[in-house]
Amino acid sequence: MSIAYHAATGLFHLQTRTMSYMFQALEGYPAHLYWGRKISEGNAARLLKRVERCSFSPNPVPEDRTISLDTLPQEYPGFGSSDFRTPAYAVQLANGTTVTELLYASHEIRAGKPALEGLPAVYADKGSEAETLIVTLEDKLSGLKAELSYTVFEAFDAVIRSVRFINNSEDVMLLNRALSFSVDLPNDQFDMLQLSGAWARERYVHKRELVPGLQAIESRRGSSSHNNNPFFALLAKGATEDHGDVYGFSLVYSGSFAGGVEVDQYHTARAYLGINPFDFSWRLEAGEAFQTPEAVMVYSAEGLGGMSHTYHELYRTRLCRGAFRDAVRPILVNNWEATYFNFNADKIEAIAKAGSELGLELFVLDDGWFGHRDSDNSSLGDWVVDKKKLPNGLEDLAERVRSQGLEFGLWFEPEMVSPDSDLYRAHPDWCLHVPGRRRSEGRQQLILDLSRKDVQNYIVDALSSILGSAPITYVKWDMNRNMSEIGSALLPANRQRETAHRYMLGLYNVLERITSAFPQILFESCSGGGGRFDPGMLYYMPQTWTSDNSDAISRLKIQYGTSIVYPISTMGAHVSAVPNHQVGRSTPLKTRGDVAMSGNFGYELDLTVFTEAEKEEVKRQVAMVKEVRELVQYGKFYRLLSPFEGNETAWMFVSPDQREALVVHVAVLNEANAPLGRLKLKGLNSGLNYEWVGTGERVGGDELMYAGVAKERAHGDYFSTVHRFIAK
Ligand code: DGJ
Repeated sequence: MSIAYHAATGLFHLQTRTMSYMFQALEGYPAHLYWGRKISEGNAARLLKRVERCSFSPNPVPEDRTISLDTLPQEYPGFGSSDFRTPAYAVQLANGTTVTELLYASHEIRAGKPALEGLPAVYADKGSEAETLIVTLEDKLSGLKAELSYTVFEAFDAVIRSVRFINNSEDVMLLNRALSFSVDLPNDQFDMLQLSGAWARERYVHKRELVPGLQAIESRRGSSSHNNNPFFALLAKGATEDHGDVYGFSLVYSGSFAGGVEVDQYHTARAYLGINPFDFSWRLEAGEAFQTPEAVMVYSAEGLGGMSHTYHELYRTRLCRGAFRDAVRPILVNNWEATYFNFNADKIEAIAKAGSELGLELFVLDDGWFGHRDSDNSSLGDWVVDKKKLPNGLEDLAERVRSQGLEFGLWFEPEMVSPDSDLYRAHPDWCLHVPGRRRSEGRQQLILDLSRKDVQNYIVDALSSILGSAPITYVKWDMNRNMSEIGSALLPANRQRETAHRYMLGLYNVLERITSAFPQILFESCSGGGGRFDPGMLYYMPQTWTSDNSDAISRLKIQYGTSIVYPISTMGAHVSAVPNHQVGRSTPLKTRGDVAMSGNFGYELDLTVFTEAEKEEVKRQVAMVKEVRELVQYGKFYRLLSPFEGNETAWMFVSPDQREALVVHVAVLNEANAPLGRLKLKGLNSGLNYEWVGTGERVGGDELMYAGVAKERAHGDYFSTVHRFIAK
């Protein structure tokens, strides 16, 4: 890894194991030169072919008509001084004008990676594994400064970018747009891949060809959302799962975002991602600074799969933190789909007892244990145990669960308040709202105004007192609606448009305080399933409840789509009852287990009603998970067959030393007299012989990869097969 600066040409060359990223200060304008496969040395400045274009692309340097900001590939473009493409930032000055021009002023190269104040970020474990370049740009006339930050790690083909704006003037400035990066790729020969969907249908893979104009994704919901994940990739024409150039863009942020690609008149492609400028404005007083979230830009010469490997490894080991980053995750049972709000201490203990007999390790008490919450109509904010359901309190319940040999976990939805709650009655101004306007409810709840310090402190205190009151080793942190009437009672009129971002900063502050105060607790984030499955949340909580849709067949698409960016160790996946509560489908228990095994495994059904045969199957599943969970959690994940392209899905895990592998294959619908087929495996060591567990056969890694395994003939719909291979 290295970051080199060539003073003679003003060229910066960032290198990782196999990637190069280059740009140059050209007449002060940071001009993008190259991003792709590693180039050892060289002067990519020659790539910048300067030609005079028409008068509709003006020239900032009068004596040189070959330079136009409208055609120059740039690193962090503005608007108003002759680049007409999508800008990375926009500032309104005290005199009302919106034209600024950021030019190179200085730079600094540092070992390691500085933390981002108040924001989640990828970190370096050792200073020597990463290097950071900070390029300071300046608009001399206004005093606006921007520090562009670029970090590279030797081990990861990624450039991690963010920007810090500084108002170095005597006057106030309004920052109306502050994206995390912008990059101009030299052509538009790409397909754009995005992860989009809805509640219970998150992160479906969608692909489209780039065409002139803007193609964009965004969230205006005050959270990253079920609808569009803060991620997209550009696949060079012809790139596949395993081959070809792929560029990934992922935002470490959990609020409203915007990302996209603009193809311009000369068929170059400007990609960008950051806080959504829509309804955003930040007042920068004299001397103040604003830090953008960071974006992780990954390059892969080995297709989409190569890109996913980089994100998985980087996010699993250098974004997720804490004791659970590298600890195997417990097999749990969650009572939500078993009881919903209708439970008492005896019922919970009975489920825990059944779980203990089946070999489970953790019981999670979901919604409904506090206030008088017998439905979703009330009590959010009143984090006091409901003595009607749990007469002897949480500590007693936790002890009863623990006496069955299971750890105890608890659900919260800390960011919310029910209008029917003591908290709301005492503090009606503590929720996001606009004076005089309706407070639109979602699931009969409002959102607490986390931009306020008093609200932040209330949440930290309320949760800390519960978490300190009982032996709790797991927390599920839920969040079940999006923002409307976004306003804060404490912010002045001219800062109201800061509310949504200040909320995120407040949330991150709360999460930092709580997770660091309770390091022994495994935190799982959730937002009606995967409504906030983003790198920002993963910085505080190393796993997320992937989707409220627990149907095994629906999960094929959801988990496959999620795996495009997010490590398997971050995905919660449970076996639930049939007919499934979300889609009404009945799938075999084995298939449900096989699919859930490709995630942080658990059960979400009433264990007390299992038949003897079901108990035997579950015991087999639990034993298997205990054998393979390290492989699933730390192994390399390969996608073999896409549920978005056909009736079958297959994926596999290979241990870091390539000595162990697990393959999962699911055929959705069966067909009479179906053709036979083979499944070619990936990522094995071609020189090793593997034992095919259960058959006793020995097979070479080369045979498994190049010839494959014969697919099992399905018996019925939703038929799953699992293969294990261990090198001997
Ligand atoms: C939404 C979550 O995603 C579910 O798993 C469950 O916890 C409910 N909320 C409880 O209200």
